[in-house]
Amino acid sequence: MLEHAAAAGFPTVGRDAGGVLRLLARLVDARDVFEFGSGFGYSASWFARGMGTGRVVLTEYDDEELALARDFLDGTYDVEFAFESGDAMAAFERYDGPFDVVLLDHEGARYAPALARVRSKLRPGGVVVADNVATGPVDTETLVAMLSEDDYADPPTRDASWDVDTTTEGIGVYLDLVRSDPGFETTLLPVGEGLAVSVRVE
Ligand SMILES: C[S@@+](CC[C@H](N)C(=O)[O-])C[C@H]1O[C@@H](n2cnc3c(N)ncnc32)[C@H](O)[C@@H]1O
Repeated sequence: MLEHAAAAGFPTVGRDAGGVLRLLARLVDARDVFEFGSGFGYSASWFARGMGTGRVVLTEYDDEELALARDFLDGTYDVEFAFESGDAMAAFERYDGPFDVVLLDHEGARYAPALARVRSKLRPGGVVVADNVATGPVDTETLVAMLSEDDYADPPTRDASWDVDTTTEGIGVYLDLVRSDPGFETTLLPVGEGLAVSVRVE
């Protein structure tokens, strides 16, 4: 799968972050996992490796990627895979949950709106993992500066001079929200392009 990603120039979570996904799945004894943004199934394959049985729901706009995911995953692991074509949030609304792990790896600008919906379908002790919170598509220097501001997630109080791209802004808003939410304990891991791992504690 990594060879395919390299040849196609596709941005997977990468091997190191994949290992963290496998670890988390094993630690929380995951049976039900939902991915926002699955591409051709690389991150899903790591979840599957950490799960004995259960289900991973993949979501993807691009049907060619989703078809590749089927080719790579079907019959390879003991878990069941559900392949959802189209918008990840629309797919999420079709599932009752509760989920043990949710991966946010679609569009940074959509992480914060997703969190609001995810929390009601994440079991206590469950984990939300957000990818690309340090490098990759984000402007790291601007992100660090943003996060040192108070209330960045609250647009009316924001300094109007900020000039950031939507992904960096979305990641900044997401990190501000999830880290200030008493319902989650969040740790930032400098793995791959940066993972925010948030455990639901209430
Ligand atoms: C960074 S890649 C996902 C990588 C994947 N998690 C992995 O590690 O291999 C992001 C993917 O999300 C898809 N995507 C972006 N926004 C989406 C949305 N709202 N709903 C579904 N898929 C989306 C893109 O088409 C792209 O393939």
